[in-house]
Amino acid sequence: MGSLPSFAPDQPHRDPQLPDDLVRLLRRAQRVTVLTGAGMSAESGVPTFRDAQTGLWSHFDPEDLATPRAWARDKALCNAWYLWRVHLVRSVEPNAGHRALAEWATLPGRQIHIVTQNIDDLHERAGSTVLAHLHGSLFAWRCDRCHAPAPTPNAPPTPVERLDPDRCRHCADGDIRPGVVWFEEPLPATEFDLAIDVCRDTDLVVVVGTSGMVQPAASLPHLAGANGIPVVEVDPRETLLTEAATVSLRASAGGALPAMVRAVALE
Ligand code: APR
Repeated sequence: MGSLPSFAPDQPHRDPQLPDDLVRLLRRAQRVTVLTGAGMSAESGVPTFRDAQTGLWSHFDPEDLATPRAWARDKALCNAWYLWRVHLVRSVEPNAGHRALAEWATLPGRQIHIVTQNIDDLHERAGSTVLAHLHGSLFAWRCDRCHAPAPTPNAPPTPVERLDPDRCRHCADGDIRPGVVWFEEPLPATEFDLAIDVCRDTDLVVVVGTSGMVQPAASLPHLAGANGIPVVEVDPRETLLTEAATVSLRASAGGALPAMVRAVALE
């Protein structure tokens, strides 16, 4: 277990010097599982959830927006908020970290499995295939009664406080809700099982930009550790997962991941 204090969080773009033990782990690993959280997309301009100044949760109470009860209580408020996030994600681009992960998968003999808590599509737009979207997707809407899939509704270009959801065209009885996993809802079973498999049976787990505060996703690095698999953490700050990490890199995703992939490519 270790923590390297050399990278200041306020210098996200500095190319970090990678410690030798990390470079060894990276070069040895042929199968790599990457678990990403909101910090992965922060440098693209998507706010994280729990960072003090910019986190969306610091402006909104999650209970008002991200539970089934909240949806039942005020569908127009929830719908408007998620559609604002659709617009936000569509207006940003993948960052150097997303691109580095896509490049890693093209290196000979390397297999990269991405498991993300993010509901954006920035990994895919950078060219990666995502094995599991643990918390669903902003681009997979469905009926809240009959569960029929529905197209992503039109997102207003400026945030509005309330917007009635579309009605379901199949059952005509339900409303179209975002296909994200809310607090108190179970994770999609198939995706979580896939995530467990690739955290138990892999050479290395890299955890990027997650506070480790939300279960069960936060249990995955511990599962890897319990199976003797090294865990590398990339985050500008100490997190609840730092203790489970073999190496912690105090750096941003956009700074660290390109350097890590370069270290593998230059082997
Ligand atoms: N690069 C890497 N990490 C970063 C960066 C960056 N540029 N900027 C911030 N971070 C880190 C923060 O230090 C923090 O540890 O990203 C983490 C973000 O944590 P959270 O905001 O809690 O996001 P996350 O862990 O993904 O949240 C989990 O909570 O609300 C739910 O469903 C939502 O999927 C989300 C889940």
